[in-house]
Amino acid sequence: MVCLGNICRSPLAEGILRTKLDSHRFRVDSAGTGGWHVGKTPDPRSIEVGLKNGVNISGLLGRKFTEADFDAFDYIFVMDKHNKQHVLDLATSNEQKHKVRLLLDTVFPREQMDVPDPYHGTVEDFERVYEMLNAACDNIVKEVQ
Ligand code: 4NP
Repeated sequence: MVCLGNICRSPLAEGILRTKLDSHRFRVDSAGTGGWHVGKTPDPRSIEVGLKNGVNISGLLGRKFTEADFDAFDYIFVMDKHNKQHVLDLATSNEQKHKVRLLLDTVFPREQMDVPDPYHGTVEDFERVYEMLNAACDNIVKEVQ
């Protein structure tokens, strides 16, 4: 799961997907395209909306997306089109590029929908983001199992 800061959207997506998949069979992680929040815990509003829904992400730490992630993971879900372009710019093969998908393509195929960045928004924006991420993760589970 990839977003810009790795403190709002992608750690929440990571936490949600982890609760829905068998940890012995699937490795789930998140990263940011920017490095400002490396080593930091998620935004308190993401932690809060997670906890309200039974998802504890308080122990996750921010990290930056690297080229090694293309080999480490079979699926790379990006939150918005900016993240997608950043990640695609780091790809060195078509195989790597084909792993990269907008997360909401799993819910609204071909509509090119972004998970909006809630960083400058309200608690309600984080709640809306949670619902989008949760719907997407349900469809990922159906796809990979
Ligand atoms: P995220 O939100 O990409 O969902 O983690 C952001 C968090 C921090 C910043 C931007 C977006 N920032 O500019 O610091």
